[in-house]
Amino acid sequence: MPALPRSTATTTDATEETVRSRLDKLRDARVVVTGGGGLVGSRLTRLLHGAGAAVTVLDRMDAYPESGHETFGVARGGARLVVGDVRDADTVGRLLREADFVVHAAAYADVAACTRRPDIAFRANVEGTQVVLEQVARHPVRRLVMVSSASVYGDGVPSAGGPQVFHEDQPLHPVSVYANSKLWAEHQTRLMLGASSGSEYAVVRYFSVYGEPQIPKPGSHSWMVPWLSLQAHLGRPMRLNGGGDQVRDLIHVDDVAEATALALIEEGMAEQTVNVGTGRPTSVREVADLIAPYFPGARQIVTPRPDGDPLGGYASTERSRELLRWQAGIEVREGVERYVRWLLATPEAMPRWLADAAGDE
Ligand SMILES: NC(=O)c1ccc[n+]([C@@H]2O[C@H](COP(=O)([O-])OP(=O)(O)OC[C@H]3O[C@@H](n4cnc5c(N)ncnc54)[C@H](O)[C@@H]3O)[C@@H](O)[C@H]2O)c1
Repeated sequence: MPALPRSTATTTDATEETVRSRLDKLRDARVVVTGGGGLVGSRLTRLLHGAGAAVTVLDRMDAYPESGHETFGVARGGARLVVGDVRDADTVGRLLREADFVVHAAAYADVAACTRRPDIAFRANVEGTQVVLEQVARHPVRRLVMVSSASVYGDGVPSAGGPQVFHEDQPLHPVSVYANSKLWAEHQTRLMLGASSGSEYAVVRYFSVYGEPQIPKPGSHSWMVPWLSLQAHLGRPMRLNGGGDQVRDLIHVDDVAEATALALIEEGMAEQTVNVGTGRPTSVREVADLIAPYFPGARQIVTPRPDGDPLGGYASTERSRELLRWQAGIEVREGVERYVRWLLATPEAMPRWLADAAGDE
């Protein structure tokens, strides 16, 4: 299937310098991407490799059942793959001794899973981050990009004016174990790195990432584009938790990869935190409505809203436009179409655990 054209050019400054040409600064740079075997990390890895960087991925490669990691194709993305845990200080130290940049994206990256297993969340997201920061302090790099999440803002409070917009400097109120672990990682990064440490840092707060070849994890309630698409594809009702009025700022994984790569090199990003979102809210119901036409007979049902599932909000994008000189280029309608077309063209992507599950899974 041919790639769809991007709807807008991702340039925001007067020079019309393209993202690709800006990423030329990473040519021959040595970049370690923790969690580079996952959805975002594998996309980022491919982008960095395409820009001429020498990329090393450190990943446990066990976040998905069946061939989830294989679908992301990190082994085909031109990176050196080291299968290991970020809590292994020797391995992290060995990789950082030879690194110019680090993106720390490894995490137990699912809200529901972290609620069920706070012990694993703590080990991966807190202890793992601590080991990475200690090793960066010991083997300084030019910059570490800490991957955080919009979940640190907490529950959106819709007003008469509509859903809440999240600004980087507003008070943070995490409402899940996952969000709390991300907020801790942000603070610890600020406390351990920075000018006097010899390593710069930048923090990126992703909003709701989606895009082919994303496949949800069992027991997850995140990632509504694949969930709703897979349910419709299986002829099951699309479940709108809590009625589907929650909103998310849906940001395509290609856009996320670009923003993260730019966070490594943009001068203004040193010691800064930016949102990575589109600046537009989309409700769960709207997404279901975008998916439905591709699956004749698709139905929607209302199911209870799970604990830790925020009402949501959307990103203020002022700071990302100013500091990253970037804005998202893929609109939700286009991104959802890309996802559904990929799903329809890729029958092997349907996870066995989901196809075999009872219809109301
Ligand atoms: N997907 C989203 O909507 C979203 C939103 C906000 C933030 N994030 C953050 O983005 C990052 C990437 O998330 P993703 O969506 O690609 O999830 P993912 O689960 O696909 O990728 C995370 C990767 O980290 C690896 N990992 C987990 N624990 C590890 C450990 N202890 N040692 C080494 N590797 C380990 C996993 O194997 C996996 O490949 C995470 O930090 C996540 O918290 C994601």
